[in-house]
Amino acid sequence: MSTAICPGSFDPVTYGHIDIIKRASKIFDKVIVAVLVNVAKNPWFTIEERMELLRKSVSDIPNIEIAGFDGLLVDFAAEHDADAIVKGLRAVSDFEYEFQMALTNNKLNSEIETVFLTTSAENMYLSSSIVKQVGLLGGDISPFVPECVQDEILKRIRQRRN
Ligand code: PNS
Repeated sequence: MSTAICPGSFDPVTYGHIDIIKRASKIFDKVIVAVLVNVAKNPWFTIEERMELLRKSVSDIPNIEIAGFDGLLVDFAAEHDADAIVKGLRAVSDFEYEFQMALTNNKLNSEIETVFLTTSAENMYLSSSIVKQVGLLGGDISPFVPECVQDEILKRIRQRRN
């Protein structure tokens, strides 16, 4: 049975992430969506909150599991006997950072391959940070995230203002 890990901050999940998770679930028997810590980011949501939003957003895909982890991605992947790490590549600007992570992960554990999927054209520009920024500035975020995620972002923005 083939297993892939879809790792990310998912702070919060967007339609761009969901597209990659769905497509990975058609290639691999099992996909574990791993909510991990990116030390370079200041998250809006706790790991548990991000996992809950993911659960609600991908509940229609049968071969998906959601997990959280605060260690190294390769250790998580090895613990779950994963064959591959699947990441979405949006634009050329993603490449350098993703390439660096893939090479580092390969150095840490050469058994686990990184597989890149090209993002769908409509999600090329999408990121959690952009969605939060649009929400903060009063824009409509409904084209970018599921309704449950939209509600939580707007709730967080109201809390930040009070
Ligand atoms: O969605 P993001 O923020 O681009 O995802 C980055 C993430 C969380 C996958 C990356 O920061 C990560 O793998 N964190 C876990 C810690 C780790 O393994 N760091 C070394 C990877 S180079």
